[in-house]
Amino acid sequence: MRWRRRWAIEIKTPEQVARMRQAGLVVARTLRVLAEAVRPGITTADLDSIAAREIRAAGAVPSFLGYQGYPATICTSVNEEIVHGIPSPVKRLRGGDIISIDCGAIVDGWHGDAAVTVGVGEIAPEHERLLSVCEAALWAGLARARPGGRLSDISHAVERSVRTAGPYGVIREYVGHGIGTAMHMDPPVPNYGPPGHGPRLTAGMALAVEPMVVLGSRQTAELPDGWTVVTVDGSWAAHFEHTVAITPEGPWVLTAEDGGRPAGASLTSSTGARGEGGAADAR
Ligand code: MF3
Ligand code: CO
Repeated sequence: MRWRRRWAIEIKTPEQVARMRQAGLVVARTLRVLAEAVRPGITTADLDSIAAREIRAAGAVPSFLGYQGYPATICTSVNEEIVHGIPSPVKRLRGGDIISIDCGAIVDGWHGDAAVTVGVGEIAPEHERLLSVCEAALWAGLARARPGGRLSDISHAVERSVRTAGPYGVIREYVGHGIGTAMHMDPPVPNYGPPGHGPRLTAGMALAVEPMVVLGSRQTAELPDGWTVVTVDGSWAAHFEHTVAITPEGPWVLTAEDGGRPAGASLTSSTGARGEGGAADAR
């Protein structure tokens, strides 16, 4: 990662951040419906249909469909698949599997992007823990999305959170990103690195933070479908993502339904989070 480069980072007005919140809520609600639909026997194509219906019903547009030729509304990555798995009518979930669901939506030209990993029925304790470790690392990173910090403070917090939890692999080839009028914008947001580097974080920036954590080696491979990324050693992977806006009062997690604010963040915001705070204590 070259921390020195000067990135062109889009700065949003509070009104524009509020519109991104609308996109974020569509993504959050869609992911909740999908997580509730996950059960043994359902196919990943079934989940894709549900996502398409939810996003359209909300008056939003799916951002993944057609993106660089991507053929579906969501990405569904099962077990050793890390990211960008393509939904398929022949991919039927079984009890004990874990599935990462990644979803993006556009409202009035503004993007939201988030992912969760959930278990199918009952899953092994080591997989429960993998999911918790990855989600906790995401929130550790989100808590650093505050004015005055540096971009790599987020990256470092994510990596340190995982390292503290145990000998997990943290994926390096795929990173988070700036987001706003497009899904993928400057700057890249790696999930590793030293603190105190990269651009200074300022109010009006929005980032998608998305750690991918594996039980084994962090080495990745792409399947012949040109999309699906898997672990080389076959170890299972978790992926969690949120879109966060940096506000004067701290991080505003636009794709958390409750407007969740990471531990340590202020619970009030001038950008519309009034009455939505309160998630911090729960995490
Ligand atoms: N959420 C993914 C990301 O942040 C997007 C999936 S790639 C797509 O990179 F092509 F499917 F859109
Ligand atoms: Co993303």
